[in-house]
Amino acid sequence: MASEHGMVTKNIVVLGGSYGGISIAHYFLKHILPALPQKQEYKVVIVSAASEAMCRQACPRALISDDLFPQNKLFVSIPKQFEQYHPGQFEFIHGSATSVDHEGRVVIIGSAANSQTQVLAYHALVIPTGASTPSPLFGLNVGDEKNLREAWEEFRNGLETAKSIVIAGGGPAGVETAGELGEHLNGRAGFFSSRIENPKVSITIVTSAKHILPHLRPSIAKTAEDHLTKVGVTVIKNNRVVSVNPNNAGVSTDKIASGALLNLSDGTNLQADLFIPATGFSPNTKFLAKDILDSSTSQVDTNPSTLRVDKAGPRIYAIGDASNYARAAVHSIMAAVPVLGTNMKRDLLLEAGVPESQMPAEKVFKEDRRETQLVPIGKAKGVGAAMGWRLPSWLVWLLKGRDYWLWTVAPVWSGKQWAKES
Ligand SMILES: Cc1cc2nc3c(=O)[nH]c(=O)nc-3n(C[C@H](O)[C@H](O)[C@H](O)COP(=O)(O)OP(=O)(O)OC[C@H]3O[C@@H](n4cnc5c(N)ncnc54)[C@H](O)[C@@H]3O)c2cc1C
Ligand SMILES: *[C@@H]1O[C@H](CO)[C@@H](O)[C@H](O)[C@H]1NC(C)=O
Repeated sequence: MASEHGMVTKNIVVLGGSYGGISIAHYFLKHILPALPQKQEYKVVIVSAASEAMCRQACPRALISDDLFPQNKLFVSIPKQFEQYHPGQFEFIHGSATSVDHEGRVVIIGSAANSQTQVLAYHALVIPTGASTPSPLFGLNVGDEKNLREAWEEFRNGLETAKSIVIAGGGPAGVETAGELGEHLNGRAGFFSSRIENPKVSITIVTSAKHILPHLRPSIAKTAEDHLTKVGVTVIKNNRVVSVNPNNAGVSTDKIASGALLNLSDGTNLQADLFIPATGFSPNTKFLAKDILDSSTSQVDTNPSTLRVDKAGPRIYAIGDASNYARAAVHSIMAAVPVLGTNMKRDLLLEAGVPESQMPAEKVFKEDRRETQLVPIGKAKGVGAAMGWRLPSWLVWLLKGRDYWLWTVAPVWSGKQWAKES
């Protein structure tokens, strides 16, 4: 691609501007570029469907009202985070990758602003396009921040009159959302009562599993259920939503507050003023060739030790929810960034003719598979475990429930998190 500097011939293309993409771009600019022999030949290009990064973990609370978080911390401009670097070293393209040609080593990009497409050659490619939730309330998915705000707006309008809310899915997103809505709408039962007598709004979680929060041990899930009961949430287990009428209720933005009739697998029905599907996620990988995807998860089939996408050619990497290297979680990404960064550094130095003896050693990623998950239930309670240890409710509140990790994201977006090379 031509550039105003003329000398750039080697684009390091990063697809996606969230935890994975922003981190890798900073890591490249701070630790890889300075070590390359012909620095002026390289630049990093972030291509992102959204021009802002957002603290996705905060969605279960943020969707209720803009007053619950400082909006200028919840959403930040991506290009602004890179103004600290030399302008020739970074470019931001607001658009979506629509295909990748591994033979020709180019990405086709559709502009977010108009119907134009652009062909961008890559020297190295990183794929952190993340994943989409069925409900548009839980993140940027494949759209722009404006789409997320529109979805929240629709939901908030519906919330003003809703008498019944059904959430499908008993994972953390479903449980956290139920807890936030329950506390916000119904308040919390007093110390001596286990439930609210006449909740203002009936809130129901439907899960096909034996208990909610399947990544945590059953005794922790039981405590979570008790906390939910206190804010007027009912949990229906061993049952699933089999059909929804209208069929895209809760999924398409104009049907967020349409109301829905839900048929459950046990033959019963539920009527909901607001229906929130919180059942899993699908990786944003439709623009990629099938032969580089994991056929069971549709994630990019990534070498879990090196984070290279071996099948896609040299200098191609994947990280985050779009990749099958680890469980989808921010902490997996944070642990993987220095591994991907170091291995990319080696590959780029090698390509530039630097002898092996002057290179950092290859790094190996190893997923921490210990029980780790923090689940706030409203503003004061929560359950969870970290590295296999059960955490008390107050500690879940301190770490996550106060602000849903918003306290941790600023250094990730600004790159301060990656100031040191390891
Ligand atoms: C409600 C909810 C709560 C969560 N809570 C937690 C938690 O408490 N702790 C935890 O560890 N994890 C949590 N997670 C998971 C966590 O949010 C994800 O692991 C994390 O966001 C993944 O980051 P990512 O960089 O892979 O991609 P994402 O955050 O999914 O972002 C993907 C980026 O790619 C862009 N994009 C998509 N398609 C394209 C394309 N074709 N071209 C260009 N750009 C594209 C998007 O605009 C976006 O910028 C939660 C997830 C949800 C949904
Ligand atoms: C769902 O239940 C309603 C009411 O019992 C019924 O009329 C409808 O046919 C059911 N829909 C499906 C798809 O099973």
